[in-house]
Amino acid sequence: MTLIRLAVEDDVGAIQKIANEPRSTVSHLGGFVMMEPIKAVVKSGSMLVAVQSDSIVGFSEALPFGKHGLKMSLVAVTPDLRRQKICTSLYVGWGLIASLQGRLYLQDHIISNNPTMPMVLPTLGFSPAVVLRSKVKRHHDLTLWYKSMCPQTSGWVYRVPSTTEYHLEDLERYHENFSQMGQLLSSRGRSEDVRESLIALNSTREYVRRCSLEYERSRVGGSL
Ligand SMILES: CC(C)(COP(=O)(O)OP(=O)(O)OC[C@H]1O[C@@H](n2cnc3c(N)ncnc32)[C@H](O)[C@@H]1OP(=O)(O)O)[C@@H](O)C(=O)NCCC(=O)NCCS
Repeated sequence: MTLIRLAVEDDVGAIQKIANEPRSTVSHLGGFVMMEPIKAVVKSGSMLVAVQSDSIVGFSEALPFGKHGLKMSLVAVTPDLRRQKICTSLYVGWGLIASLQGRLYLQDHIISNNPTMPMVLPTLGFSPAVVLRSKVKRHHDLTLWYKSMCPQTSGWVYRVPSTTEYHLEDLERYHENFSQMGQLLSSRGRSEDVRESLIALNSTREYVRRCSLEYERSRVGGSL
């Protein structure tokens, strides 16, 4: 069983260990990942972890991008447990949170010397949107990937193994963002455009509440 939940301060050491795993992870994450930044991200509620038998086996960071987007950042899975949909489960976890917050899209940015993420992202419904040539040191390109939550691209939830469980909370600050998004879009005359997406986002929110935030693939259905 893999449990997906928000990270807490006690997880920081285990997260750093995975981030700095020497065989293949460090270079893909851009170098040694310091403990203090990880602590800050955990504290701000922007880090999800995957837990198996009380051990952290993966993590994923996602930062708010305005009120309407979520910007994916560092992600890594312990080497022995790769290709078991742990990254998939973490990203879908962010999809649930994005829905609770009324966010309309997820964005990722991948450096061109990472051979793996360009294989992962299309399986989650992300598309390459922009290539920034020589954006990164040593002339590496940076590709921005984009996944719309509006209209919902539902296929990704079916890639989550049935042994994954989500323990997420519908936090007060998520409600605030959700209602502010609704107000903002209505005030810009976008009510028709967003009506359907808000219904879908609302149903995800209700779903997460109803199930005490425990993942049940069949009931999520097309809500994401
Ligand atoms: C990138 C990473 C997080 C992926 O984690 P993961 O849990 O193994 O990924 P998933 O099992 O969810 O993969 C989902 C799909 O992506 C594709 N994929 C993942 N890894 C792949 C690989 N090495 N080669 C080809 N396709 C791959 C596959 O289609 C896979 O589905 P499948 O196994 O059914 O074929 C992991 O490889 C990792 O930690 N790498 C080092 C750190 C890193 O590069 N982070 C990204 C930059 S921040």
